[in-house]
Amino acid sequence: MHPLLSLSFFWLLPLALMLEEDSPLDCAPRKSVPYHRNNAHLFYEEGVFNYSTMLLREDLNLLMLGAREAVYALDLSNISKKRASVKWEVTQKQKDECKNKGKDPETECKNYIRILHKMKDDRMYVCGTNAFDPECDYMSYADGTLTLEKKEEDGKGKCPFDPFQRYASIMVDNSLYSATSMNFLGSEPVLLRSSAVSIRTEFKSSWLNEPSFVSMAEMPESEKSQEGDDDKVYLFFSETAVECDCYNKLVVSRVARVCKGDLGGQRTLQKKWTSFLKARMDCPVLDSQLPYIIQDTYLWCDPQQDWKHCLFYAIFTPQSDTSDLSAVCAYQVSDISRVFAEGKYKTPVPVETSFVKWVMYSGDVPTPRPGACINNEARKAGITQTLDLPDRTLQFIKDRPLMDQVIQPIGEKPLLVRRGATFTRIIVNRVQAADGEKYHVMFIGTEKGTMLKALNYQGEMFIIEETQLFQPPEPVKILKFSHVTGQLYAGSDYGAVQIPLASCERSLSCMDCILARDPYCGWDKDVGKCVALSDSQRELIQSVKAGNASLCPNADPVKPMNQSIWPGGNLKLSCPLPSNLAKTSWQRDSSPLTPSARFQLLQDGLLIFNASDSDSGLYSCLSVESSKTAEYTTTVAEYHVTVASAGGQIFPRAQTEGPSVVGLKAVVGLLVVCLLVLLAWNFYKGHLPLPWNCGKTNSKQTQEYREEGALNSGVHYQEAQRPAVAEDKPLVSGRNNGSSNNNHTGGEAAHSDAREENDAPRVSLPSLQYIDDESEI
Ligand SMILES: *[C@@H]1O[C@H](CO)[C@@H](O)[C@H](O)[C@H]1NC(C)=O
Ligand SMILES: *[C@@H]1O[C@H](CO)[C@@H](O)[C@H](O)[C@H]1NC(C)=O
Repeated sequence: MHPLLSLSFFWLLPLALMLEEDSPLDCAPRKSVPYHRNNAHLFYEEGVFNYSTMLLREDLNLLMLGAREAVYALDLSNISKKRASVKWEVTQKQKDECKNKGKDPETECKNYIRILHKMKDDRMYVCGTNAFDPECDYMSYADGTLTLEKKEEDGKGKCPFDPFQRYASIMVDNSLYSATSMNFLGSEPVLLRSSAVSIRTEFKSSWLNEPSFVSMAEMPESEKSQEGDDDKVYLFFSETAVECDCYNKLVVSRVARVCKGDLGGQRTLQKKWTSFLKARMDCPVLDSQLPYIIQDTYLWCDPQQDWKHCLFYAIFTPQSDTSDLSAVCAYQVSDISRVFAEGKYKTPVPVETSFVKWVMYSGDVPTPRPGACINNEARKAGITQTLDLPDRTLQFIKDRPLMDQVIQPIGEKPLLVRRGATFTRIIVNRVQAADGEKYHVMFIGTEKGTMLKALNYQGEMFIIEETQLFQPPEPVKILKFSHVTGQLYAGSDYGAVQIPLASCERSLSCMDCILARDPYCGWDKDVGKCVALSDSQRELIQSVKAGNASLCPNADPVKPMNQSIWPGGNLKLSCPLPSNLAKTSWQRDSSPLTPSARFQLLQDGLLIFNASDSDSGLYSCLSVESSKTAEYTTTVAEYHVTVASAGGQIFPRAQTEGPSVVGLKAVVGLLVVCLLVLLAWNFYKGHLPLPWNCGKTNSKQTQEYREEGALNSGVHYQEAQRPAVAEDKPLVSGRNNGSSNNNHTGGEAAHSDAREENDAPRVSLPSLQYIDDESEI
């Protein structure tokens, strides 16, 4: 550890102890894994930003990555390996035109790649915002090169003009379905299918009302359908509610769907969707008055079962700034499709002069059912395509695309709720655990550049870990999963990373491996390691539902380390905890040690101030972690502390001090000199009372600062070596190599500054409290 860092860490630790307890609604990650370049493969290129579009080409073993003015073809097994790239820059003329329309030449007047889809002929369809003049093109990969065909297709309605506007798209049977804005102002939303006959939404607020598009998915509902139903395309978005009886603008989450075979109407709804139906989606987060807003979805389907069993996992965030909760809700596809197939409609009724109220429609519904796909019944009546639909049906749906019923999540409550970093993206993977059961594991990207790995064990929310993917912390803009490589891919404004589903080797003990409750990992008794289930033929110890660590063999006793200290000196005994859910306690000669002015309990250790002869003894640090079955206590570290006699013998440890300790001492010495000068100046100026007058401290915190000041001016400062095979890691990691492409300071350092400046008596840490976890590789 760098001496300066260790010092700053040391200074700030007491503040960490004042962390607020989590509310019961919320769920804290068991482990916080700080940024480390070995956590993930990284890709970024100097001067290129906004890595926010991805296409998995498992057939070519490539990850296509769309950034600003560039597309990359990366090795899917190791995205640090660039196979090819192609630039797509705006021309000076386009830039000038964009600028003349009042847009920012350095940000908005660039080409942001927004759409990347595979075509049937193996080429790719790619669109970019192109300086507020969206354009599309075809791209192919052959012989290690990416080539754009320069077709210059109009991208209007396919790709947003504005790079900051949300959009959604999907390629189905070589037809692009896109949800975006059709005009420069971004005020004309559309759900468009670009095909021989393009079909779009009616431009009406009852169809789309200031929407923010989230995602799209295809559903093969014609498969084995008794009714002869058609396949569907689902669209998730949020919009201003038309149906709300409220004075203020209220945003709601929606799911809409259209039929793949829709060709529009003959007279009514010409070249418009005849099958556009939408419904409100609810994710009821406790205590919330206003509905939460959908931000991303992931479609999970069991390959062994039909589409009805597919699930949509969706992320929700609050619509007001008053809350910092995020939630995940899951929806059964059959529940959604039933609402569209059988549910009641909402209809507008005028009340008073200018006000319209939306109520449940209880009149006659024409046949064929408005918004339904062409099915066997319609075919029997001679209606074989939407062009044959009667005007009555079409007029009905044109005026009433909204369903009355609200779609509720499975269990009518969220699977996960978390306070802190806002959720941005989600992926779900199913894994079979050692108990033979299959579990859905959620991987959730956040606004702070972290990824949560979470489960819901029969109603119990559990976050295995929160890993820092990007440093500096940058929002996760896109998240993808490849079933072929079994790896996750995440993109941010500054780069992309590739991460495995599990890093079992981070758990060094059986206890830690079991209490992690990670269905991917188990403890191998024979080799004494936490390993991936998929890599092991042997029977492993695992207990995901209960976290029953009593199955673990007895751990080897920890070897006590010797520590010596001068009388009057200060000492830190380090005790890094493997888990955020664990609590530390200390014992001296097997009796509990109570914190006092001279013994200060830290999150990762114990401070002894002003040692006296009576402080000699055997110090043990115990970690206590509860699981559903029991409370587990482990001895994390033990120290034989001897207080050197006043005779002034040389420390036994003095000879073994490495260069870093010498360096540390040098820095401490330097700081002491500075501090003394500063103190002297302050005393001289009268800014500080003299130390012997210090009884009148007004808050606990000032007291602590003073103690630390004393500590740092003490000559006998020494930090105990970490127990076990620990190797110190910097708290602040730089980028992969020195050539950082941004000016941000390390996130933790920035937080530290903020914490230091904050003189409120209670300091809440940022959501991610880094544990100095040596086990991360
Ligand atoms: C692109 O990345 C830059 C660099 O950080 C960022 O400032 C900007 O907001 C990003 N633009 C979009 C549209 O995401
Ligand atoms: C991934 O690729 C990079 C760049 O070629 C290389 O340095 C690194 O060793 C590779 N990692 C693995 C695990 O193959």
